[in-house]
Amino acid sequence: MLEVSNLTAGYGDIPVLRDVSLKVAPGEILLIGGENGAGKSTLLRAIAGFNRPSAGSVKLDGVELSGLPPEKIARDGLRLVLDGHRVFPELSVFDNLRMGTAARPGDRAGFGRAIEEIYAVFPILKDKSKAMARDLSGGQQQILALGQAFMARPKVLLCDEPSIGLAQALLPPILAFLRKWAESGTAVVIVEQHLAVTRPYTDRAMIIQRGQVALSCASSELDEKLEALQQARAQAYAAG
Ligand SMILES: Nc1ncnc2c1ncn2[C@@H]1O[C@H](COP(=O)(O)OP(=O)(O)OP(=O)(O)O)[C@@H](O)[C@H]1O
Ligand SMILES: [Mg+2]
Repeated sequence: MLEVSNLTAGYGDIPVLRDVSLKVAPGEILLIGGENGAGKSTLLRAIAGFNRPSAGSVKLDGVELSGLPPEKIARDGLRLVLDGHRVFPELSVFDNLRMGTAARPGDRAGFGRAIEEIYAVFPILKDKSKAMARDLSGGQQQILALGQAFMARPKVLLCDEPSIGLAQALLPPILAFLRKWAESGTAVVIVEQHLAVTRPYTDRAMIIQRGQVALSCASSELDEKLEALQQARAQAYAAG
């Protein structure tokens, strides 16, 4: 279980996130939405240890991670997949997948199982296993970036805007894969602007506004709550 409590973080003296709390259980997907610049990526980076929080806590299975270096947090089972399909362009698809297991050297059987699983879900990775990652399309690189994270078998996966640079039609199969992955007992957080497409694949939803949690609910209630939130904002704006 990932448990973030009253997290406050920013860049140097610039505050960005204030008092953000969330929980994600194994098997569950949390969707995080919000406008550009709201602080969604900063939240993921702070959880993963790349931005040191100035207050609050990040616990994984009850163990405090906040303040630990990101490589230690990764070893403890938390994996961040950045937007923009960061893969090793000059390595083959297979070698990129291998890099995902670098944290657990020597586990050949585990590696074999994981790679067969990822090939079964995304046969394109098998077909292109010898191709250089740079020769893959944007969508294929996103799948590879996720495949790399999958190989590390994290307890928690944080995924920042998987749709970036993708044709919209490619988002649903990626979300379906994340859903299946979550069901194997992984806690998943997806930051995504395409709320309508993403929501049905998720359990809980949260909207970040100017660095704070503006709304947190079951995904099934998101549309209704978003409408209420927008009405409240319009009223506040009209009232000056
Ligand atoms: N490295 C940085 N140094 C200083 N300020 C930053 C840095 N990265 C982001 N910010 C600022 O922090 C705020 C939140 O940015 P963040 O990238 O977390 O937003 P976001 O919700 O992920 O936006 P987007 O939807 O555009 O990805 C913004 O005001 C941004 O300008
Ligand atoms: Mg972002």
